[in-house]
Amino acid sequence: MIVFGEGEHKVVVFRELTPPGHVQANQVLIVDHGEGLLADPGGRVVFNALVREMAPFVPPPRVRYLFFSHQDPDILGAAAVWYSALFNAKILIPAVWLRFLPHSFHEGADLEGRVVGIPDEGMEVRLGEVELRLIPAHFLHSPGNFQIYDPHLRLLYSGDLFASLFPPGVDYDFADDFDSHAKHMEFFHSRYVPTRRAIEAWLRRVEGLDIEVIVPQHGAVIRGRENVRRALDWLRSRRGYLD
Ligand SMILES: [Fe+2]
Ligand SMILES: [Fe+2]
Repeated sequence: MIVFGEGEHKVVVFRELTPPGHVQANQVLIVDHGEGLLADPGGRVVFNALVREMAPFVPPPRVRYLFFSHQDPDILGAAAVWYSALFNAKILIPAVWLRFLPHSFHEGADLEGRVVGIPDEGMEVRLGEVELRLIPAHFLHSPGNFQIYDPHLRLLYSGDLFASLFPPGVDYDFADDFDSHAKHMEFFHSRYVPTRRAIEAWLRRVEGLDIEVIVPQHGAVIRGRENVRRALDWLRSRRGYLD
């Protein structure tokens, strides 16, 4: 795992919990003053390990939010078990995916009062003493998709954007040599991102954000302002699948 921050505010990235044979996925826990937000906890194959690994950082009853950036199985495949395990947490899910969520639950599950649809324009979420920003990243790749900006650490949890998928035998935590790292991002961004118009809209949206760290849902973390700048430049030069 990687831990950013210290004391009352931490972002914990679990990179090693995915069993072999599954697409590697990172799970992200944000903790501020004893309260937690768990982002994109993954499918059932990760559940037991993640429950165990996150406990030292925040006890389950203190997790206030369960954030689903979009609708994929590697995001919310275990929604029903997390709903029970984190019984004081509200589920945050893009409003456009809200109506599909009950398919992950047994019939008659009481989701009323436990689920919040994130409006298309995004929203702020108070966690402990920090205001996290949910940033729209629609069509990158999902039509309803959000990222989390943590102003305290100037850290962007980017979801599938900036995902890297490593070939067998390759893995590292940090993409410190961004130029040689970028090849591992190629396939995902050329096949799953529909059009550069979505990229341009997102780049305009984050223009004013001070970002020092980008944590994607897959692969390596991009750290340092210089590498963040390179990553944004790389994205700017992309074509989507339909372009
Ligand atoms: Fe996805
Ligand atoms: Fe993903």
